[in-house]
Amino acid sequence: MSCADPAPVFGTTFTTMRREYILATIITVSNQKGGVGKTTTSAALAAGIAATGKRVLGVDLDPQGNLGFCLGLEPSDAPTVLDALQGKVTTAEAVGRTEYCDILPSDISLSSGVENVAAGHKESILKNTLAPIIGLYDYVVIDTPPALNLLTVNAYVVSDFLIIPMGTDIMSLVGLSQLKETIESVQGSLNPDLKVMGILLTRFNKRTLLARDVLEMAGQLAKQIGTVVFETRIRNGVAIAEAPAHGESIFDYSPRSAAVKDYQDFLKEIAGTIHLKEVR
Ligand SMILES: Nc1ncnc2c1ncn2[C@@H]1O[C@H](COP(=O)(O)OP(=O)(O)OP(=O)(O)O)[C@@H](O)[C@H]1O
Ligand SMILES: [Mg+2]
Repeated sequence: MSCADPAPVFGTTFTTMRREYILATIITVSNQKGGVGKTTTSAALAAGIAATGKRVLGVDLDPQGNLGFCLGLEPSDAPTVLDALQGKVTTAEAVGRTEYCDILPSDISLSSGVENVAAGHKESILKNTLAPIIGLYDYVVIDTPPALNLLTVNAYVVSDFLIIPMGTDIMSLVGLSQLKETIESVQGSLNPDLKVMGILLTRFNKRTLLARDVLEMAGQLAKQIGTVVFETRIRNGVAIAEAPAHGESIFDYSPRSAAVKDYQDFLKEIAGTIHLKEVR
C-alpha cells in the first residue's frame, strides 16, 4: 500500500513550495561511524511514524541499500535514488512502495557518488530532486552512509532535523568533531534552519562502566553542538537484528522486545518536536 497519493505537484520550486504548502518534516539520521544504528533508527522512524497514519517517504542515501531491505522492499531492477538525482527518471518514477511507507531506494551504484551529476549547486541536488514529490508526504526520513561526503551534505541541506545515533563504545566518540564541523558549515551557509535534535545512544547496556563514560562524553559532545542526549537509550536486542531478514518492521516483528519498546519510547520522546500526534 502506498503512503502517498500519486498526485504530482507541477512546476513549483522547492523554495516557493516551502511557503505555499504544508510541507514534509525532513529528518536525517547521520553519523560517519559505521554500524551505530543509523539504518535501524531510520527504518524504525519511517515505520513508526507511518503507523500513526502519516504519509512517509524513506530516502536511502547509503550505497549499501539497507533501508529498503529493512522495510521489506523487494530487490528489483527498478530505478534508484541515483537515477533520480541524475535526472535519468523523474523522482516519482524512482519511488518504491513498501507495506510501511514509500521509499527512494539505493544500490551500490550510488557509491560512484553524485560528484559527476549536473552542474549547479551540487549540495542541493537532493533538495531539487525531492521538490516535485515533497508535497505528497508528511515526513521524510533520510538514511545516510557511514561517511561525511557530498551525499551526507545533501541530506543536511534539505533537512529540518538531524538525529545522531551513537554506539556505546569508546570508538564511537572518535571523529565526531568532523561531524560537528560539517553540521556547522551547512548551518552557516546552505541551511541555517538545520537543527540537531539529539544524540541517540544505541546498543546501550547501562550496567557497564563504559556506558557511564560514553554517556558523560556524549553529554559533552551534545553541549558542544548545541543539542541533547535523548533520554531514551536503545538497548541491545536480537529482535532488532532479526527483523530485516523477515522483511518486517521491528514493531511488527517483535513488539514486546525491550529494544523495540525503546524505539517506541524514542518516538514518543521526539513526537512533540516533530509535531507527531497519536504515537501509541
Ligand atoms: N539495538 C540493537 N540491538 C541489536 N542489534 C542492533 C541494534 N541496533 C543495530 N543493530 C544491528 O547492528 C548492525 C548495524 O546496525 P545498522 O545497520 O542500523 O547501523 P548503521 O549505522 O546503519 O551501519 P552502516 O554505517 O554500515 O550503515 C545491524 O546488523 C543491526 O541489525
Ligand atoms: Mg546503515
